[in-house]
Amino acid sequence: MAERKICFGILGAGLIAPFHAKGILAANGILAGFADRLEDRAAKLAAEFNCKSWGSLEAMLEDPQIDVVNITTPNHVHAPVAIAAAKAGKHVLCEKPPAMKLADVDAMMAAANETGVKLAIVLNCRTKAPIVAMRKALDEGRFGKIYQVDAIMKWWRTTEYYLGDAWRQRKDSGAGATIQQGFHYIDLMQYLGGRIVSVDSRMGNLAHQQVAIDDTVRSFVEFENGAVGSFIGSTALWPGQDIRIEISGENGTAVMIGERMAVWKFRDERPEDEAIRQLGIDSGPTGATGQADFGFVSHQMIIEDFTRAILAGGDPVAPAPSARHTLEVCLAMYKSAKEGGPIKLPLMDDSGIF
Ligand SMILES: NC(=O)c1ccc[n+]([C@@H]2O[C@H](COP(=O)([O-])OP(=O)(O)OC[C@H]3O[C@@H](n4cnc5c(N)ncnc54)[C@H](O)[C@@H]3O)[C@@H](O)[C@H]2O)c1
Repeated sequence: MAERKICFGILGAGLIAPFHAKGILAANGILAGFADRLEDRAAKLAAEFNCKSWGSLEAMLEDPQIDVVNITTPNHVHAPVAIAAAKAGKHVLCEKPPAMKLADVDAMMAAANETGVKLAIVLNCRTKAPIVAMRKALDEGRFGKIYQVDAIMKWWRTTEYYLGDAWRQRKDSGAGATIQQGFHYIDLMQYLGGRIVSVDSRMGNLAHQQVAIDDTVRSFVEFENGAVGSFIGSTALWPGQDIRIEISGENGTAVMIGERMAVWKFRDERPEDEAIRQLGIDSGPTGATGQADFGFVSHQMIIEDFTRAILAGGDPVAPAPSARHTLEVCLAMYKSAKEGGPIKLPLMDDSGIF
């Protein structure tokens, strides 16, 4: 029997929405349409993708065909709409960061639990082939004791990018380089290295003086397992270089640059390692040089994974509780930069950070 197709409605018809739309179609899903409070934006994308458009979430929720609401609104508008969609009995696939406050993520999870729907966060970098290989090697214990996990994001965004929409100019709506662009890579640090127990961060604005956000961050991180790491992030560094994710343990080292596996070396070399070293070799741009300079394949993979979780059960690759920890780490980085010293986790109070 043919498997049931899952139907998606996209809330927020801005920059990232077409990546979701292409991902849904490539994942063999049904795209019902787009909703945006600026209805002309939704209508424009609906014409392009030959689907419906609505002027609000409430209007979109009236379509009984929709199984999943993809949330692609600005960061500070994730929680209320995710909660409303979950309460209406829709599965929720929400862009990163899940919200701007830990209590809001808790409320999102509570709403999903209440109606028994799935809630996942679009942490699409977890699906990149070198990261999947690193995670598998970690599960197999190939690295041995983990010593160090670093993420280096030396990116470039123009001032025009920040001036383009009001929410991109405010720290409390999640526009800063740490929580907006950096979220993916801070997430990979904990996805690979395990829970983070302390951060010590400094932030600044080097190249975007017209906008009151952080465009540069340096953070020293300690993991629960004794490993240490650094997050070096910026959107001020023209022309922008590929991301680097580096992990080293007592028995091996792996490094991803962009989407390529640049280093894959273990004391117990295995026959499959040569093929792993070729992963991502044909990959394209990954967002280093501009806000839309990347492909939709990792969104497709997140949508395929979410579809599997709905149809077959089990957790998606980026369930809300693990994204909550990434948010906690990001918020602790802001708090540390503001207060000028290390912050221990768990973060008990995230008020007044922005
Ligand atoms: N996973 C990734 O690789 C990736 C990349 C870029 C952006 N993002 C995330 O996607 C989200 C959207 O980013 P963007 O750059 O597309 O933003 P955007 O500003 O281009 O688009 C957001 C849209 O949401 C609409 N909107 C705002 N509030 C609304 C509401 N209450 N109801 C309906 N529509 C509403 C706006 O009118 C706008 O059209 C953010 O959370 C961002 O962090 C993820």
